[in-house]
Amino acid sequence: MNTAGALGNSYVMPAGLIDSIAMTFASSLVKMRRFADWYQLMHPEEKKKIAALAALEYVKPGSIIGIGTGSTVNHFIDLLAEKMPGEIEAAVSSSEASTERMQQQGIRVIELNDAGRLSIYVDGADESSHQLHLIKGGGGALTREKIIAAASDQFICIADESKLVDTLGNFPLPVEVIPMARNLVWQALKGLGGNPAWREEFVTDNGNIILDIHGLRIDNPLELEDQINQITGVVSVGLFARRPANVLILGGDSGVQKIEV
Ligand code: 5RP
Repeated sequence: MNTAGALGNSYVMPAGLIDSIAMTFASSLVKMRRFADWYQLMHPEEKKKIAALAALEYVKPGSIIGIGTGSTVNHFIDLLAEKMPGEIEAAVSSSEASTERMQQQGIRVIELNDAGRLSIYVDGADESSHQLHLIKGGGGALTREKIIAAASDQFICIADESKLVDTLGNFPLPVEVIPMARNLVWQALKGLGGNPAWREEFVTDNGNIILDIHGLRIDNPLELEDQINQITGVVSVGLFARRPANVLILGGDSGVQKIEV
């Protein structure tokens, strides 16, 4: 059918022109989206990275430091190797994964038993309260993390701003458990009001299992940490209230924010 004829004397836009207008419009949308991303929405990985970068200021040359586990800590390891190559004597690692990454980056890793007291421990968190009580263990490394935190003078926690909460518990609370005690501990945790779930097909670096407690509102973290630690078969709980962070460094759209208690 002849479109021009059907429309009488009205103007018919050539198909090529329509395509070109459509392409210009689509490309403008992409540019506007990129601008919005750049202007106001920092990528979550960037937020973790600026928090990790800010933590370098706490690293003393020649010291032995503790290093945790997770995606935020991975940025810290990479930045430590890049910005302070060979400047620390060694690191104590909270997981096989972090040990491997540090060794790839040329950072010497030693055992805690050979290190003595550590000046700082740098690690991430799954949630932090304003009192710097933490939920940790999303990556399953909670027990070694707790040990290294206990052996360190200062715990520098690094995270993106989404981790700061008014009340802990939205993130399921990890508990490391001796495998044969799984059902026994599950029952006891249920009695505390939570809804424990077995993290199936996951084995910790210590050969144990993880139960994640869903549906908790943690109004008294100190008390809950003590109660869970009392359950026979529990190795450790990812509630860091008895040993909270000393400094929380949060990366966000407007830069880095530090909270100290
Ligand atoms: C691992 C942890 C991590 O610190 C926590 O899960 C946060 O990880 P990420 O930096 O990837 O958000 O406790 O056991």
